[in-house]
Amino acid sequence: MRTDFGKKTFLYPMPVLIIGTYNEDGTPNAMNAAWGGIYNDNQICICVAESHKTTINLKARKAFTVSMADAKNIAACDYVGLVSGKEVPDKIKKAGLTAVKSSKVDAPYFEELKMTLECEMVSYDDKTEQLIGNIVNISADDSIITDGKIDPEKLQPVTYDSANHKYRVIGKAVADAFAVGKSIK
Ligand SMILES: Cc1cc2nc3c(=O)[nH]c(=O)nc-3n(C[C@H](O)[C@H](O)[C@H](O)COP(=O)(O)O)c2cc1C
Repeated sequence: MRTDFGKKTFLYPMPVLIIGTYNEDGTPNAMNAAWGGIYNDNQICICVAESHKTTINLKARKAFTVSMADAKNIAACDYVGLVSGKEVPDKIKKAGLTAVKSSKVDAPYFEELKMTLECEMVSYDDKTEQLIGNIVNISADDSIITDGKIDPEKLQPVTYDSANHKYRVIGKAVADAFAVGKSIK
């Protein structure tokens, strides 16, 4: 037996991406996005609604950052997805996040969020609301690095469980990728 859920946007795992941009006056803004992922070599694609303040900012500065939401900062990460910079211009301050200017692109990242993709906008399509960006750098705080690599057990990134409207911490490794399947070859 299987249960049909019909036309839904359920997928496991969905990311929780915090998109950082600058407003026209240079103050930082951020929003939460679950509809996104790696698109091509060194590119990211995210569905960003045309109505968002982030979209206005993207079109003006052609740059953005994408930080991984984590368990420690989950309230702030949810908050930036609940209110718009259009209504709350000091959204970042209210969220308790500390904006830092990226040295690579014209966009802020947030000190509290320990892993960030720094991106230049390639395109934004008003009809499909698809944002595509080139990843020009990935930076991570030393506190989440083990033996020179990003350590998910330290980062504690969260996934958005769209079927239950929950954030869940991404769990432990279960096998080595590009390796465990070799046993079946
Ligand atoms: C869990 C979650 C996931 C979201 N995913 C998206 C998304 O993929 N695309 C989108 O356009 N908005 C998404 N949103 C809504 C925006 O984050 C929200 O409307 C935000 O207030 C926009 O901020 P801005 O107007 O300051 O840019 C999501 C919100 C939450 C809480």
